[in-house]
Amino acid sequence: MTQVVSLRFEDGIAVIVVDNPPVNTVSAAVREGLRRAVAAIRERRDARAAVLLCAGTTFFSGADINEFSGPPKEAEFRALFAEIENLPIPVVAGLFGTAMGGGLEISLACHYRVAVQGARFGLPEVTLGIIPGAGGTQRMPRLIGADATLDLILSARPVDAARARELGFIDQIVDGDLTSGTIAFARQLVAQGKGPRRTSEQAVAPSTATAEVFARQREQAARLYPNRTAALTAIKAVEAATRLPFAEGLLYEEDLANDTKATLEAKALIHVFFAERETRKIPGLPADLKATPVKSAAIVGAGTMGGGIAMCFANAGIPVAIIDVSQEALDRGLKVIADNYATTVKRGRLSPEDMQKRLALIRGVLRYEDAADADLFIEAVFENVELKKKIFATLDRVAKPGAVLATNTSTLDIDEIATAVKRPQDVIGMHFFSPANVMPLLEVVRTAKTSPATIRAAVDLARPLKKTAVLARVCYGFIGNRMMEGYARESGRMALEGETPRRIDSVLEKWGMAMGILAVFDMAGIEVGVNVHKANADRYPPDPAYYQADFALVEAGRLGQKNGKGYYRYEKGDRTRYDDPEAIAIIAERARKLGVPARQHSDEEILERCLYPLLNEGLRILEDGIAIRASDIDVVWTAGYGFPRYRGGPMFYADTIGLKTLLDGMKKYRELFGPMHWEPAPLLVKLVAENKSIADWENGDGSIFR
Ligand SMILES: NC(=O)c1ccc[n+]([C@@H]2O[C@H](COP(=O)([O-])OP(=O)(O)OC[C@H]3O[C@@H](n4cnc5c(N)ncnc54)[C@H](O)[C@@H]3O)[C@@H](O)[C@H]2O)c1
Repeated sequence: MTQVVSLRFEDGIAVIVVDNPPVNTVSAAVREGLRRAVAAIRERRDARAAVLLCAGTTFFSGADINEFSGPPKEAEFRALFAEIENLPIPVVAGLFGTAMGGGLEISLACHYRVAVQGARFGLPEVTLGIIPGAGGTQRMPRLIGADATLDLILSARPVDAARARELGFIDQIVDGDLTSGTIAFARQLVAQGKGPRRTSEQAVAPSTATAEVFARQREQAARLYPNRTAALTAIKAVEAATRLPFAEGLLYEEDLANDTKATLEAKALIHVFFAERETRKIPGLPADLKATPVKSAAIVGAGTMGGGIAMCFANAGIPVAIIDVSQEALDRGLKVIADNYATTVKRGRLSPEDMQKRLALIRGVLRYEDAADADLFIEAVFENVELKKKIFATLDRVAKPGAVLATNTSTLDIDEIATAVKRPQDVIGMHFFSPANVMPLLEVVRTAKTSPATIRAAVDLARPLKKTAVLARVCYGFIGNRMMEGYARESGRMALEGETPRRIDSVLEKWGMAMGILAVFDMAGIEVGVNVHKANADRYPPDPAYYQADFALVEAGRLGQKNGKGYYRYEKGDRTRYDDPEAIAIIAERARKLGVPARQHSDEEILERCLYPLLNEGLRILEDGIAIRASDIDVVWTAGYGFPRYRGGPMFYADTIGLKTLLDGMKKYRELFGPMHWEPAPLLVKLVAENKSIADWENGDGSIFR
């Protein structure tokens, strides 16, 4: 037929095979090939049934996301799917791998569906701010009911073949070879004299589409997707399947789908989706540079971070040694790891066999020599530059040539750490976030001397470790924590001005932050931030109120969740935040001593004072060349700091509100609080003067990396 679609006839069965590597997206070439295949099948009088199969690793994985920005494709999908569905012979889809979105919708236009045991299916469109737009909202309810369809759409999570069969959109689970199984199923239909069974001709079961069902689903949508509309729009589309004739329902779905694509929510979510892919592209590295894969690793330090990082490697099937100073420290670290895995097993998210396999990949050692063959070392000892230099000197002596020597430091100068070795080109920062085995972000930090090969190795490691790596250059706080500074500062300052922690956090959470910043401090341990600030006092502006709410709480013995009291109060074994007048009194007393005037805050002020310094610092980071591109900053904040993806990350958000708004806001607060913390970034001033957005700037002369 075409390069990606083949058609053969096997004894009266038309066999369509699509082979569009790597994951069989329903691209333009695939659609063209399918159209031709369907036309050819129509010509063959001897065809009794047809099967639709894919080669490679999966059935159609989904629509081609690169087409999102182009002209709408819904009408073309609709026409093609109608041609498949209108064939006069039964059409059977054979599913395997992961069929999501448009990849699943195409199978709904077939008359029957069979799948292998391990196959997974989902309609995750709302995570991109859009709705299924290739018939999914009209066909799926006809097969499994409106309620179950909305569960599928709102959860956005895949279901397995057994569940799909229970729900009713898979007819049979095939054991053994899928191609022969699908063909056998088709032959059986022919033998039984069964013809096409068109989804479009079925009706939605009324019991699944009552007013109560839709009311409950709307509640669910509001709970799962606050500040967002795609899920609610999907409910509208599914509702239409119950009242409109099929053809009209499809047109209605198409209208709604196009509306959703135009929303800021969709633009922001699709921006982050592409931004995450973009992080792998590193300007200036030789195009043919291939990283030597890391086959074994060693972690120095069996503490909180070292243990979590070791788990990441074991989870990826990479053997990992942990080095610490004493058997006690090692035993403690290894026990934490074992306990963590045991909890996951208890929750049913890991089999006991897999736990054993992972534990077997982790070994504790006391001598560096016993881990000398590692391809990569990650140092995660106490945050002390002299100690880290000592360890790097040892690594220099022990590690084989070409091994990557990484540090997990959050604040220290990695260029300085690299002076401890004779191979600074191999030294790099790999900044994991706590808990390291869970958090998806990895900041990779290059020094002035880090070699391209080392950068490639560290960034490429993100894939097996299931992390999103963002490359930064050395500066205090790198990308994420540097931007955190002003955000944290203002939230504490507003507490000193008399605002309750609850109010500050709930304004931030309502806006979309995964967790209010003061609750985050309670979770991480307030003393962690205080210690960083004490150790780096000379780096901060001479502001007597700086970070003083945190200092006051720690001095009063309030460390956060770990001892049941911080900005909030906690009951034992429970993370619920209770307001605590004692905390408020401690902060108020500190404010009185410092002479910080009380102030009323509107919701708008709370948001602006938390967000504007963060956005402003992002512009400085761009101008300083610390981040390669604005979208990398967006990835850091959405993947690592709970910034809402549907707002696109801080830099996308800055462009959304407009740089002029941001600049005016910075000036407004400079007027109120003085220039110490509120000086607009030079790039911000420049872009506003030139009437440009960050995106304009990047597409033009832009970042120094271009
Ligand atoms: N905790 C966090 O949230 C977090 C997040 C990102 C980065 N970091 C950074 O990660 C590093 C480790 O932090 P942590 O919270 O895991 O600390 P931790 O105190 O939990 O663990 C440090 C471990 O290092 C071991 N150690 C000390 N000296 C050693 C030596 N000479 N040789 C071998 N092992 C030695 C200790 O015995 C201990 O097990 C620090 O640089 C920190 O800034 C921490």
